[in-house]
Amino acid sequence: MLVCCLLAVTADTQAQEQGTATPSDSPLAGTPTAVPPVPHIPPVPPLPAASNNRIVGAASCAAASCHGGGRRIEGLHFSASLVWAGRDPHASAWDVLNTPRSKTMLELLGAGQPSAPPSPVQDARCLNCHATVEQPLSGTVPVNYLHHDGVGCEACHGPARDWIGPHVTSDWKSLSATAKAALGYQELGSSLTERARKCAECHVGGVGRDVNHDLIAAGHPRLDYEFSTFHTNYPRHWQPRTGNTEKPDPELSPTLTLDAWQAGRFAAAEACLTLLQDRTTAERPWPELAEYSCFSCHHNLEDRSWYQQRRSTGRPGWETWSLTPLRNSHAPELLPLTTALDSLSGLMNRPAPDRLLVAQSANAALTALQPLRANHASWTPTSIDTLCLDQIRRARRTTSDRKSLAAGSWDEMAQLYLGLRAAILARQNLEPQDIRNQQFSQQLEIIRSHLLFLPGYDSPGTSSIDAVLLITAAVNQIELLLDPRTQQP
Ligand code: HEC
Ligand code: HEC
Ligand code: HEC
Ligand code: HEC
Repeated sequence: MLVCCLLAVTADTQAQEQGTATPSDSPLAGTPTAVPPVPHIPPVPPLPAASNNRIVGAASCAAASCHGGGRRIEGLHFSASLVWAGRDPHASAWDVLNTPRSKTMLELLGAGQPSAPPSPVQDARCLNCHATVEQPLSGTVPVNYLHHDGVGCEACHGPARDWIGPHVTSDWKSLSATAKAALGYQELGSSLTERARKCAECHVGGVGRDVNHDLIAAGHPRLDYEFSTFHTNYPRHWQPRTGNTEKPDPELSPTLTLDAWQAGRFAAAEACLTLLQDRTTAERPWPELAEYSCFSCHHNLEDRSWYQQRRSTGRPGWETWSLTPLRNSHAPELLPLTTALDSLSGLMNRPAPDRLLVAQSANAALTALQPLRANHASWTPTSIDTLCLDQIRRARRTTSDRKSLAAGSWDEMAQLYLGLRAAILARQNLEPQDIRNQQFSQQLEIIRSHLLFLPGYDSPGTSSIDAVLLITAAVNQIELLLDPRTQQP
């Protein structure tokens, strides 16, 4: 949930401001002595007999001489299994399916019907994101001890049955990327785009992986994924590779946070459009409520609420978290995509959207997105400022007066905040001497504090217009810092 996302962001920012960490080295601080306490790693179990499954299990990677820390002096990736088992949220992804919260969720989703899976750990809907599966499963799944790993090594690095053999030989390093891919190995090192797409499979969803309104209403947290933030917050079990001047490791870039934001917004949009297409399939609930602005139906009726500040048609608008950063752009190179998204929006905002037309329109948007995905701009202070101003000015389009930007939705404000934050971290690295950076950060902190949910809430706790006005003022200040010629309302 974004609460955690926003909270975690502070800790990380503080560490960076105190000079104790940077996005690329924070997890390495103190290596090798700061390797987490050695958790119990069970011995490699035998593979299930007669299985076509290419998943071998996280224990297969954990031998001391492999990634289990026996050679810790040689680098963090030799301790990857320890970091994962000790600190990685994915190691407990299966365990959360055994909690009362998950069991209640299943009851509310209609367990008790004869065909319903008996428990979340046998429900493909849950396992597809909370365990390591080769292909999304469906229906009721037999109990499989490999699922206990949760989101294990192979969920990100690819099913290992066919590559684990060559991987432990000295020839592995000389194998081409294509040869490795043919064995099922997923290369995530050189491209942030591929990395962001991998995470989006579960953090946004896709075919067979859907946190839809039924799941949310049953108690699942809404997924608010933004790659740059998740990537920063993810406990690293690797370290950037230095020394390759031809193709430097993307994590060594001074603008890593913004590179990741850029890669992430395309990856998230791609996953979210694919998910929308899947949602149009005949047997799925339609229209899918999770596609629409949550706060238009779940608004607080208090008259000073955020909702009532919005230009409203009286119907919930199509508003997906993952598309916001792209829709909030006037950038000319995005025009084919933003035009396609506007047509899709037109269809989704009809009273009874046509499944087939929506699927076709989502497909057109995916086509417009393909050529943009690999587009990696290298940032300069000027292009960063242009990006920030673009995001700020475009975000005003949804408000009635086009000025009080923060009266847009919480989603827009939160996405704007995350984009501006990725930008300021990059800006600080490129131009550390610019005193405006500090003022920019101060305004961002004001925005963050007003976006946080109240403790214990899954949605914005404040609906007060005062928060909206304070956020607007802070955004206006940032705009003025970046472009002193701005005519302010
Ligand atoms: C599309 C992938 C996806 C599907 C499908 C899915 N989950 Fe999740 N689930 C996640 C992600 C990602 C998170 C973490 C959310 C975050 O913090 O961003 C999560 C979080 C949770 C949490 C909260 C965990 C915590 O640490 O507080 C529970 C409980 C949960 N899921 C149970 C379930 C159950 C039960 C099902 C099946 C009915 C299910 N999930 C289906 C991806 C999924
Ligand atoms: C949530 C996704 C995810 C999971 C789960 C995961 N990794 Fe990784 N891993 C990454 C990413 C992202 C990188 C950085 C890109 C890269 O170097 O490939 C990485 C890098 C590595 C590297 C360094 C690769 C290199 O060429 O330098 C090793 C080794 C590694 N992981 C091992 C493991 C092991 C062992 C496990 C299970 C215990 C595991 N990973 C689980 C995402 C994951
Ligand atoms: C196979 C599905 C899957 C993939 C792939 C995946 N995740 Fe996750 N991720 C989850 C689930 C499920 C959770 C929730 C686990 C829990 O609550 O115990 C989670 C939790 C997280 C969290 C903690 C979130 C929070 O609110 O505390 C972070 C950070 C995270 N993932 C980052 C990543 C990154 C970065 C990648 C890509 C390199 C990635 N994940 C890939 C399924 C996945
Ligand atoms: C078109 C109106 C509409 C939209 C849009 C909508 N919901 Fe709902 N929501 C409902 C209705 C009606 C219910 C009660 C029936 C049910 O449980 O499905 C509900 C139930 C819920 C519940 C269960 C708790 C409760 O108050 O009953 C949660 C949580 C929830 N919605 C969250 C969300 C989130 C998060 C979004 C955005 C991703 C969203 N909703 C979008 C109409 C909507």
